[in-house]
Amino acid sequence: MAAPKTNEFMEKVVSLCKRRGFIFQSSEIYGGINGFWDYGPLGAELKRNVKDLWWRSMTRLRDDIAGLEATIIMHPKIWEASGHVATFTDPMIDCKTCKGRFRADQINEIPCPQRPSKTVSECAGEKTEPRPFNLMFKTHVGPVESDENAAYLRPETAQAIFAQFKNVLEVSRQKVPFGIAQIGKAFRNEVTPRNFTFRSREFEQMELEFFIRPDDAVAKLAGAVAKLDAGTNLSEPKTDWGWEVWHKYWVEQRLSWYESIGLPRTSLEEYWQRKDELAHYAKATVDILYKFPFGAQELEGIAARGDFDLTQHQKHSGKSMEYFDEETKSRYVPHVIEPSAGVDRLILALLCNAYHEEEVVDEKGNKEVRVVLRFHPRVAPVKAGVFPLLKNKPDLVRKALEVRDLLRPHMNVFYDEAGAIGRRYRRQDEAGTPFGVTIDFETLGEAGPGMADTVTLRHRDSMLQERVPISDLAARLLDQVR
Ligand code: GAP
Repeated sequence: MAAPKTNEFMEKVVSLCKRRGFIFQSSEIYGGINGFWDYGPLGAELKRNVKDLWWRSMTRLRDDIAGLEATIIMHPKIWEASGHVATFTDPMIDCKTCKGRFRADQINEIPCPQRPSKTVSECAGEKTEPRPFNLMFKTHVGPVESDENAAYLRPETAQAIFAQFKNVLEVSRQKVPFGIAQIGKAFRNEVTPRNFTFRSREFEQMELEFFIRPDDAVAKLAGAVAKLDAGTNLSEPKTDWGWEVWHKYWVEQRLSWYESIGLPRTSLEEYWQRKDELAHYAKATVDILYKFPFGAQELEGIAARGDFDLTQHQKHSGKSMEYFDEETKSRYVPHVIEPSAGVDRLILALLCNAYHEEEVVDEKGNKEVRVVLRFHPRVAPVKAGVFPLLKNKPDLVRKALEVRDLLRPHMNVFYDEAGAIGRRYRRQDEAGTPFGVTIDFETLGEAGPGMADTVTLRHRDSMLQERVPISDLAARLLDQVR
């Protein structure tokens, strides 16, 4: 079928998200609150799978990364040290005519609130001069609302990792190079939340701070720092890697991870920031972009941050952040490579990538449009639908419940006995469930003993069906969903 236009496509994704319970507007019964979103039953499962897969690939499958789960509110000095109090701002302007408030750098893209068909730059209203607007949400700790008690909701999870660097180093018995990974909420009072969940005011990040030797310590140890070129083998870390090779290594690791959860390379772009675009502390930053229907936009930033953050915390806290390197017999503040991904943007990318409409012919020979979410089985919220062919045959129902109970300890399955089998398949197609398991009369041995205790396994994407012994089912499915 012809692909729907961009806006139409996004509208379809947004409406499916609501209809099937992936994403709802926060506080919808009160008219919603701009920039905040809730994940419904399917969305919560999808998000959990994505976070678990990231956590597994970062911590459990590697020896050199330890996990952390820190608080959202931290000592306010953290944000002075990190530079967020002084510089975490967007340039904001007001339109004196339509009273809209906008980011000065996005002025050409924003619909005027009074005349939605116009962009603000076309609205004739006089604009104020841009002024900096700090994106951090402020609150107070304790009963007194004074300046001394002011605190912030964290705008990134990263700073907690730097603040706990020494503690984690001590207890995990890691040696540089090593990393600390964290998943958690972050908050930014975005001037203009937009594109569904893409730019939200409350969101989740999956961040890794990977601490490495400064290049001079690498040179001391290995004789020279490896040069990065097209032939550099990035599969296994080496002692002569300096920040440039480590940075490239993490870009490749992250791209492969996105592929492993179903985002093809062709849907992603690497954007290497120009020197004049880099944050003042960054030596290099690569953005991994996903080709959203509204344009290629950032999913993850991978920055080489040097020793900026640890040095800042050392200065502001008065606590040493130095590391004694046994192998080089030298003392230094480690440098860092930071792959920082947004969970919500990734969920949106997975939904856009999975959404397909196709024309199919139903059991009665009528053409119909099938909406199917082609999630990779690893991220799919429900892994298998389990269906008795008929709900009024107790033997079929009993057997189907047995199959559900067999699979349930291993994966999220959904038992459904309501309606015609074709309709049940369609419902699971829309939820992105990769497998359908149907218990029929053959399962009960009514077509002869050869077929007893076998089920129909239906594959979502090809709609092909095969017979599988119940005893093989869990292993067959686990092979795909893990
Ligand atoms: N510690 C580095 C850092 O926070 P960032 O580029 O500002 O870097 C990292 O944020 C990721 O967090 C982004 O690539 C994006 O996926 C996600 N993110 C940032 N702001 C967001 C927002 N307002 N809504 C949803 N996700 C956001």
